[in-house]
Amino acid sequence: MTHLWRGVIREYSDRLNVTDATPVVTLGEGGTPLIAAPALSRRTGANVFIKYEGMNPTGSFKDRGMTMAISKAVEHGAQAVICASTGNTSASAAAYAVQAGVTAAVLVPEGKIALGKLSQALAHNASLLQVQGNFDDCLDIARELSANYPVHLVNSVNPDRIEGQKTGAFEVVEQLGKAPDFHFIPVGNAGNYTAYHRGYKEFAESGISDRVPRMFGFQAEGSAPMVLGYPVKDPETIASAIRIGNPASWELALSARDDSKGYFGAISDAKILEAHRVLSAEVGVFAELASAAGVAGLLERAAAGEIPNGATVVITVTGHGLKDPQWALRNEEGGEAQPTVVAVDVAEVAAALKLVPTQGAE
Ligand code: F0G
Repeated sequence: MTHLWRGVIREYSDRLNVTDATPVVTLGEGGTPLIAAPALSRRTGANVFIKYEGMNPTGSFKDRGMTMAISKAVEHGAQAVICASTGNTSASAAAYAVQAGVTAAVLVPEGKIALGKLSQALAHNASLLQVQGNFDDCLDIARELSANYPVHLVNSVNPDRIEGQKTGAFEVVEQLGKAPDFHFIPVGNAGNYTAYHRGYKEFAESGISDRVPRMFGFQAEGSAPMVLGYPVKDPETIASAIRIGNPASWELALSARDDSKGYFGAISDAKILEAHRVLSAEVGVFAELASAAGVAGLLERAAAGEIPNGATVVITVTGHGLKDPQWALRNEEGGEAQPTVVAVDVAEVAAALKLVPTQGAE
């Protein structure tokens, strides 16, 4: 190997707002795999790759932005950070705060975040409050607190977050050797959509790549303000990570869509579950539900005839399946999958696996 990965700030310091005086708070984020997905290529006629962001230190893409946000917060002398979250941001903020030696307060919608994410934030000693409201309420409170109390906001309304997250696009270009024709991505607060567009744009403007991919973003049908064109007061979806009715980066994302001839679509919960199964059972990538929205979006757009044969497509799979493993235990009929129990007996195990003895065996 040419060198050991040093985290996104050190890898891309020339493209980020850091100086020698910036204390680099890193857990080694970034450098995630770009995985060929022949099963999705077969289904769509495109040449499909997965950017698997579940491989970041806290299991989601949030770490790319959090290394920047916490490093800059510490540079500015912050001793406490705060965020609102549907789960992943809180897990990431809590972990990076520990590394930095600052305290983290996180506000999450009561009963609406996955157990794995709640466990992470608590394990990393965050002061976690469950707010009796939705994510949008949590963000309103976090913004107001950061304006009036000594706590530094690390949600993606903090520009350092989007700056860090744009490195995902840099890596895609370096891994593919070019920019793809299309980039598919789930959308909640619309920060990551904005960030990938910015990363691609910077590489194209520097002549490192020859195009900015068309940015295709997907929300859950019950939480699709970017598609509807107005905020959703009571967003609903089983994909809890993207249960957001009033995206913080709305305007930035609209500009990114217009600049890239992009698209926003809405996906039903049933289609998200179906794409989650395809990712697990056909591609070999275990994702959380929200992360399957981009895959569902590609399957839908391809079926609509909108994706030319042979086009290069990258899909960001935003978070790891171990965050929220319960969905894998549901079978296709919606019941609970129950693995068969067997005795300590070779013949019984062979029979249960429907194995026939190889020729010559006793
Ligand atoms: N996928 C996952 C797994 C997420 O956790 C999020 C956002 C998104 C997609 C959408 O990204 O907000 O940049 O459009 N999660 C935030 C959180 C809101 O609090 O963890 P976005």
